Amino acid sequence: MQNPFDLDNTAAYLRWREHKLDRAITDTGGLVVEIRDPRSLTEAERAALLERCRRSNMVIYTTHADPVDEQTVQQFGLQFGLNSLDANWLAGEQGITRVTVCTDDGKRQGYIPYTDHPIKWHTDGYYNPPVRQIRSFVLHCMHSAGQGGENRLLDHEIAYLMLRDSNADFIRALSAADAMTIPERTDEQGVARAAQTGPVFSVDPASGELHMRYTARTRSIVWKQDATTLAAVAALEKLLASDLPHIHGLRLEPGMGLLCNNVLHDRAAFEDDATAPRLLFRARYHERIAAS
Ligand SMILES: [Fe+2]
Repeated sequence: MQNPFDLDNTAAYLRWREHKLDRAITDTGGLVVEIRDPRSLTEAERAALLERCRRSNMVIYTTHADPVDEQTVQQFGLQFGLNSLDANWLAGEQGITRVTVCTDDGKRQGYIPYTDHPIKWHTDGYYNPPVRQIRSFVLHCMHSAGQGGENRLLDHEIAYLMLRDSNADFIRALSAADAMTIPERTDEQGVARAAQTGPVFSVDPASGELHMRYTARTRSIVWKQDATTLAAVAALEKLLASDLPHIHGLRLEPGMGLLCNNVLHDRAAFEDDATAPRLLFRARYHERIAAS
């Protein structure tokens, strides 16, 4: 099979590139699909959501359904073949995490997702071992912040494309098995998470799909100390700071959610409204959105 992500197959890459750029969504409004009930989508709604995912690996849905709980998010995911929820040590029993500012839970305290601090560009689960790679996730907004908390989103395939266009050696370097290391995390009991060394870009041998593992954090990360790797990382940082029309900026409001194939994303700092703190449900899965 011809894989566009094969660096030795320029013809397949160029064909894919043209098709991708032709179809990729560049106006944020084009990403948004209104749905009636996330628990049971109509055929037309499901098709509209999938169409955005095929073009840009993500879709923003908006619903007035009420009430929405963790189970709703789980039922929504199932309609896209998403059933292997990642068992996060901070997640609730169903494997769905309540992302909110946490002040009373000792375990979560100090982890940026559970604060009101900004989060730099990343893909989810970049510290996970390969068997627990996060290929998709749903983020559903219950309450937005009093101020701030916007996200930026970029299809990881577009990031790959832009980097490969500027220098194919950047892709080669970022595909090396030792490109990026997240050091081990220790707690009172010893090693809580082993060090994870792996590539930024990898291609699933079974499906041929591209996966990206990345964080723009500068602490607790070790990049391979080689000139091309460091130049590639700098080029990626520059791309993420650019005004590329494929970078979508938006704020999830109550009833809105993101369904995606683990695209690149960040989060701005926010300030909570004391009466209704920002609350998002997050479900992470090991499989990609089916037929996307
Ligand atoms: Fe994230």
